[in-house]
Amino acid sequence: DRSVKIAPSILAADFANFGREIEAVEAEGADWIHVDVMDGHFVPNLTFGPAMCKAIRPHIKTVMDVHLMISPVDPYIDAFAEAGADIITAHVEAGPHIHRTLQAIRGAGAKAGLALNPGTPVEVVDYLLDMVDLVCVMTVNPGFGGQKFIHSQVEKVRKLRAMIGDRPIHIEIDGGVDPITAPLVVAAGADALVAGSAVFKGGSVNNPAPYGDNIRAI
Ligand code: DX5
Ligand code: ZN
Repeated sequence: DRSVKIAPSILAADFANFGREIEAVEAEGADWIHVDVMDGHFVPNLTFGPAMCKAIRPHIKTVMDVHLMISPVDPYIDAFAEAGADIITAHVEAGPHIHRTLQAIRGAGAKAGLALNPGTPVEVVDYLLDMVDLVCVMTVNPGFGGQKFIHSQVEKVRKLRAMIGDRPIHIEIDGGVDPITAPLVVAAGADALVAGSAVFKGGSVNNPAPYGDNIRAI
């Protein structure tokens, strides 16, 4: 379905060659570039920060979709906005003031995303629907690529689609998306799919040919 955005996660790309990896997946039809920021505190892994986002920004012609798996969030919002993030997504579990965080993201000029861990009920979005441009349903526990899709989240996506109705809010799925699981979440109402291992598997910066087939298979 061409109306569904595909957002390759560079967490599964070659860390020494992000610029070329991004150009390769965009040439093969990627709609957004998903950037996983981890702090070793909110999640048990470390990746990169705003300086790296700024460095890759010139290589992104589409949309820089920044997923913040960090706590606290608010002190870093301006830095990620200044680095060129189009979408900044924060976790509802990252602190007591998600409403303030979403306000700050929009205030910094970015689109505001709200991410929900697998154990978090969908009802938390109830009083935030006028504050968000995207809701990210995590279909793995955040922290690592290549994990198994958690099937109980499909029902959460269905409930979220009913709550959102026709509002212009993306439902993004993150974790374990592949050609088997993608149709399940799209049928439930998702319209943006993050995919790391499913996009980058079988290829490399020097052999990016598989990326296109992988994207089209999702
Ligand atoms: C997980 C990250 C995901 C991850 C997805 O914490 O938020 O974006 O890169 O990787 P795959 O598609 O391999 O599950
Ligand atoms: Zn992510």
